[in-house]
Amino acid sequence: MPGGGQQLTVGYYNAKNCGGVEPIVRGEVYKALAADRSKGAALVRLFFHDCWVNGCDGSVLLNASQRNPYPEKVAVSNIGLRGFDVIEAIKARLESVYPGVVSCADIVAFAARDATRYLSDGHIDYAVPSGRWDGVVSRAKDADDTLPGSTFAFGELKKNFDNKKFTVEELVVLSGAHSIGVAHYPSFQDRLTAPQDEIDARYQKALRNAAKDRSRPVANDIRDESYSFKKDAGYPTAVSGGRDYLNNTYYHNALDNRVLFKSDWALRTDAFAFGKLQEYRDKPKEWDSDFADAMVKLSKLAAKGEDFEIRKKCSTTNNPSHY
Ligand code: HEM
Repeated sequence: MPGGGQQLTVGYYNAKNCGGVEPIVRGEVYKALAADRSKGAALVRLFFHDCWVNGCDGSVLLNASQRNPYPEKVAVSNIGLRGFDVIEAIKARLESVYPGVVSCADIVAFAARDATRYLSDGHIDYAVPSGRWDGVVSRAKDADDTLPGSTFAFGELKKNFDNKKFTVEELVVLSGAHSIGVAHYPSFQDRLTAPQDEIDARYQKALRNAAKDRSRPVANDIRDESYSFKKDAGYPTAVSGGRDYLNNTYYHNALDNRVLFKSDWALRTDAFAFGKLQEYRDKPKEWDSDFADAMVKLSKLAAKGEDFEIRKKCSTTNNPSHY
């Protein structure tokens, strides 16, 4: 199928008499998250990383092959990327009901929406336009050239988002996704020695303690850390609210200087972005709604390329010689 110009519409599969598609995805996502809530963060990040690199085309899901040993998946910036098993299970289920109909790219977009809804207790919900096709090209270099890095300064983040026609406000809104999920040592290593004005001293101490075990993932949101971590960091140990709750706690943490990545801290260094951090800290409902809008905008990042298909399995192209 030739690429480009894919028309996305809300309710695309209903119009194709496949009204079960979105309910099936939701059912599978909810089942997966009920068994392991942490998979929700994985699905939200997977969606961002799929859409940011050459548009939403499912290319992040492709496995390495003999012809293409370095797909997006193995990119340095895709460290810790997970949730592939959930997407593949949804795909298998959909193939059994509607063979050859639903793209993996659409599944990723629906699954991120459903995870968002689940992790926010229904506070964040939105309709996802669909009708995407799956790309056949996946290169680690494209991911590393395109995705923002955890050590980016504000100017680099702004430029990275501007390249995709996303505003500073949307950068601040979407960074709130770091109220869920975890990170691995290389992503926050620099923060262990960051100067005192860039990170709260007690939070840094707790982080150094945790990092003694380099294989230990650290929660993006201090709220989700262990009792002893929070105690060391001087964070109220009683605050829990359950792990991986998608809400505006990120903005409280940012303004208290207790965020994990340098790129999170960097939002404080621009006056406009700083104002937005305060706004979203003080207006949780506004953040819910702006986050939903920004996720819809992400979902519309158009796929680039020449060749598209509806994959049978999300981890491989239909024609093995394709890429
Ligand atoms: C603004 C620039 C961003 C940077 C520099 C950044 C960087 C990172 C890094 C380094 C990790 C940890 C990876 C690891 O070590 O395992 C991470 C995790 C995560 N990011 Fe971002 N990110 C950004 C924006 C976003 C956006 C826009 C979203 C979604 C809308 C997002 C959602 C997540 C989630 C949910 C996780 C946790 C994933 C998991 O637990 O598996 N991030 N991010």
